[in-house]
Amino acid sequence: MFVFNMKMKKERIIIAIDGHSSTGKSSFAKLIASKYGLIYVDTGALYRGVSLFAARNSFIDRNNVIDTAPLEKGVANLNLQFKPSGPSGESELYMDGELVEREIRTLEISSKVSFIAALPFVRKFVDSILEKYGAERGVVMDGRDIGTVVFPDAELKIFMTASAEVRATRRYREMTARGENPDYNEVLKNVRERDFIDENRETAPLRRAKDAILLDNSDMTIQDQLDWIEKIIKERWN
Ligand code: DC
Repeated sequence: MFVFNMKMKKERIIIAIDGHSSTGKSSFAKLIASKYGLIYVDTGALYRGVSLFAARNSFIDRNNVIDTAPLEKGVANLNLQFKPSGPSGESELYMDGELVEREIRTLEISSKVSFIAALPFVRKFVDSILEKYGAERGVVMDGRDIGTVVFPDAELKIFMTASAEVRATRRYREMTARGENPDYNEVLKNVRERDFIDENRETAPLRRAKDAILLDNSDMTIQDQLDWIEKIIKERWN
């Protein structure tokens, strides 16, 4: 159970949102951030940034075999930074000064990122960036290990999930809306594969923290989810 310090202001809290892929964590986290005046940090974007760096320099091949020594060297001098430059002022990822928000979301990078995110030196690199963003608190971070490893002292932890079928259907619809023509069974297979890799890697595997509140949004609209969190925040911070 949470022990809540009544003097704590919500502007100084860390909200950690972890969970399975395609559960809508980032959309939910962004809405929470704008509603409560917190800064949103998309931690998966940083793993995607490292993956883009690895792909561009051919440190990862098409079978996802990684040349770790040069990647580790390169990462030591890599600069990843969020800057508010999106259409409505939302933060976007810059790699060594270049805006890479679009490149990190391609299917190619999505298919490599789980492998890159499993490397301990990559996790250490990303954690060091996250610690800087979280130092002032007042943030909402979404990822896989925020409440368990990066900020185990986060004031509010949420673990998001939904059935694999529901998540595959959501992703399938997003892809068809973009004009792609995916095979539903392939999409479902990919959802299950990513769950498996995220949950079974050795370093910082995806786990629900003991004190994380479970949000299964299989049958919930985004408004249901906002009502749900509003109730929790009111109970704790008012
Ligand atoms: O949330 P996303 O799909 O953008 O995340 C991309 C990948 O990064 C995903 O395979 C899981 C990994 N990730 C992670 O291991 N730890 C985090 N804190 C965030 C993402």
